[in-house]
Amino acid sequence: MSSKSGRHFLQIPGPTNVPDRVLQALSRPTIDHRGPEFARLAREGIEGLQQIFKTSGAVVIYPSSGTGAWEAALVNTLSPGDKMLMFETGHFATLWRNMAVKLGLQVDFVPTNWRHGVEPDVVEAKLREDRSHAIKAVAIVHNETSTGVTSRVPEVRRRMDRAGHPALLMADTISSLGSIDYRHDDWGVDVTVGCSQKGLMLPPGLGLNAISEKALAASKSARMPRSYWDWEPMIKDNTAGFFPYTPATNLLYGLREALHMLFEEGLENVFARHTRHAEATRRAVQAWGLEVVCLNPEEYSSSLTGVMMPEGHDADAFRKVILDRFDMSLGTGLGKLKGKIFRIGHLGDFNELMLTGTLSGVEMGLAIAGVPFKTGGVAAALEYLSSQ
Ligand SMILES: Cc1ncc(COP(=O)(O)O)c(C=O)c1O
Repeated sequence: MSSKSGRHFLQIPGPTNVPDRVLQALSRPTIDHRGPEFARLAREGIEGLQQIFKTSGAVVIYPSSGTGAWEAALVNTLSPGDKMLMFETGHFATLWRNMAVKLGLQVDFVPTNWRHGVEPDVVEAKLREDRSHAIKAVAIVHNETSTGVTSRVPEVRRRMDRAGHPALLMADTISSLGSIDYRHDDWGVDVTVGCSQKGLMLPPGLGLNAISEKALAASKSARMPRSYWDWEPMIKDNTAGFFPYTPATNLLYGLREALHMLFEEGLENVFARHTRHAEATRRAVQAWGLEVVCLNPEEYSSSLTGVMMPEGHDADAFRKVILDRFDMSLGTGLGKLKGKIFRIGHLGDFNELMLTGTLSGVEMGLAIAGVPFKTGGVAAALEYLSSQ
């Protein structure tokens, strides 16, 4: 392979670009995970994550990918054969449903066309129908990374309350945490699932659960077999800054630095930056004459934009042109959107010039790949960004 000059553009919607400050923190010498210095590091990481999830409740950190944190949410709160309500908003919602089924749960999986989020009306109707309260949990993906659609979690909570149903609410914030406003406590979420490699600007390797008092109480009687994922020994050892098994020490150094960076910028400013970049991206897509996957403006994602490929053009062939020519990775279409869409990740450690560089690569790629489009997308983004 010939060497490429300049930096690779990693514009997939996670893993995201890891800032130099975090890379340097990761490279510190590994320390004794049973010593006092580690205990301070762990406590700082957990307390910082509580601020990110906006919760005063327990947060646990697994040495795992996000999939592990999904499993932890299910096995700690549910019993074999329990009923759940889930929504097919895209590929990741489907994978979480598949996991629940493999674990022996019964899932009512509400279909969508993968261009909309969770429909709060349907949540309410389904829960009202369930008079015996057989449904034990509603589990939704906040930001569907495969499509760029953000579901309205507070509205889902409101409808659950209006139906007077006691099911737990679980939300996957894997591609929204630290990028899009999210409030575990205020929104009444029982288990929030997160991970390290997206808005938190870290490499993959940390899986996260934020846990409400109600979820903790449910875990006392839940009968799903669990060992590695068991919250109880985690929370007990975490109180003193320790873990029941070897933690991902160096990732915790990275976490501390990433949290410092987010707090220095201010979470509200971080969210506003993501919103601005997403709007600039959509303006570019619109000017190109292409279509954004998300059909409801209330559900536009601020962390990524899914773009429909014109009929007869393969999104992956287009992505290959961009990778070969400009050394930029765009997100592939997943599941039933394979070949039909590409995804532009604009989350994490990202700024205006990185965004305009990314959009320039897309616009040049469209021309080189012979995809029908109108020029002017980058100009539309520049005009918007410079007017802000
Ligand atoms: C929304 C969402 N949920 C879950 C996952 C699975 O996480 P992981 O690949 O870290 O196991 C991903 C991965 O991209 C995701 O985007």
